[in-house]
Amino acid sequence: MDKDKIIEVLNKDLQDEHGAIIQYLTNAYAMGEGEMACEIEGMARDEMRHLDWLAETIVKLGGVPSLVRGTMRVGGESVADWMRNDVLLEEGAITQYRENIDAIDDPKITRLLRRILSDEEAHRGQFEHFVEKAQEERLSDLRGTRSDDTTETLNWGIEHEYTVILQYMLQKYLTPNIEAKKELEDQAINEMQHMGWLAEKAVGIGGSPILEHTEVDRSTRTADMLRADIRTEREVADTYDRAAAESTDPGVKRLLLRLRDHENYHAEVFGDLLADEEQSD
Ligand SMILES: [Fe+2]
Ligand SMILES: [Fe+2]
Ligand SMILES: [Fe+2]
Repeated sequence: MDKDKIIEVLNKDLQDEHGAIIQYLTNAYAMGEGEMACEIEGMARDEMRHLDWLAETIVKLGGVPSLVRGTMRVGGESVADWMRNDVLLEEGAITQYRENIDAIDDPKITRLLRRILSDEEAHRGQFEHFVEKAQEERLSDLRGTRSDDTTETLNWGIEHEYTVILQYMLQKYLTPNIEAKKELEDQAINEMQHMGWLAEKAVGIGGSPILEHTEVDRSTRTADMLRADIRTEREVADTYDRAAAESTDPGVKRLLLRLRDHENYHAEVFGDLLADEEQSD
């Protein structure tokens, strides 16, 4: 298989990891706080690691990681149905990785794919167990239909956080600046926490989180990336600040103020990186 074909195959795997992450997080958030939700979030984190390894491999081969979200199996009435969907998603991944391992002859890449495959096999077993457990424990969808300014703010936040997670990850893959790479990864992980807090809060107050993103900045020069990031962070800090001032729910207000403080911190960190980057130009 030639290099371009390998990049294409790995990007398809990466897209499906992205789909799996969002599918599992959607399930976990909708189940509220509990042991099973925590374990599902843990599996979503495994998929994030897979996505990261695949993306780094693609960049090493001279490709650009795809931001397209791959296959998702949503729907189903009960948590047990969702767990069945998750089993099916893992089965699809297992088949796909086995085919890729057979088709690719680069030993470093197949070693990585076998490593990922072993996780997917473990996940399949765990989800099979969760189908039964969800039935026994009669777990149900905790999402509500509340729709007002508060749920709108939380969903606006989720959309923003999802977008910057993708943006900072992509930038981390593309920048040659080691310091920027480290900070972008760090802040992306922090934005993942933000997305989780907002989604859990949305469910906690009777709403329903919407996991969609908007357009991601596609700058290719590090200084341009950082300028776009600083602009975004300042805007979002202002929006959280305003929404917090208007909020009458003390829990929501506290969350928004905490997010605002983090976003201001992100803007400052990116500002320092930009100053260094401009000096080295
Ligand atoms: Fe995976
Ligand atoms: Fe954030
Ligand atoms: Fe931020």
